[in-house]
Amino acid sequence: MRRRHDKPLGRLLRAAVLSFGFLGCDSGPGDVREWTAADHDPPSPNEGQGGKVAARPVASNETDPGLIELAWQRNCSTCHGRAGRGDGPQGPMVRAPDLTDATWQERVTDAQMAETIRKGKNKMPAFDLPQPVIDGLVKRIRTSRAR
Ligand code: HEC
Repeated sequence: MRRRHDKPLGRLLRAAVLSFGFLGCDSGPGDVREWTAADHDPPSPNEGQGGKVAARPVASNETDPGLIELAWQRNCSTCHGRAGRGDGPQGPMVRAPDLTDATWQERVTDAQMAETIRKGKNKMPAFDLPQPVIDGLVKRIRTSRAR
């Protein structure tokens, strides 16, 4: 036996769930968590990885961290290794220094690092990279500093 008064309620609930699914911007139907402002705020320029990214003009002094990572893996990691410890495939052959070394990091300035990257030094080749990329690579080396 069907109980008649259950039916409209069920339909109403289903309609509510469906419309939520359609109205909630990118959440699939059935995703009924509460809406928060973060769902709609555009991502900040530094949240480049994954998901939807609004195209935004990037100030000339900032460079996408993903791009810096790519530049490192393409140009530097063969000698310096993924993390900069000098353990890339060609590291031992050219005696690439450990760039994470805290003592070295304390002695060297950002400007000196940038200059070595731009002009090269002994077995370290020169890299004709745009200034923001060089700055990004210096920053990456600073972040990799061993504690
Ligand atoms: C062919 C191997 C090789 C590659 C590729 C390479 N390096 Fe080096 N790098 C070296 C060697 C060898 C030294 C040590 C130079 C010296 O002091 O004689 C060095 C030194 C450095 C230093 C320390 C300079 C100083 O002031 O003592 C920095 C910073 C550096 N490299 C950054 C980079 C970055 C960034 C890249 C990629 C854009 C890169 N290197 C690519 C071999 C390499």
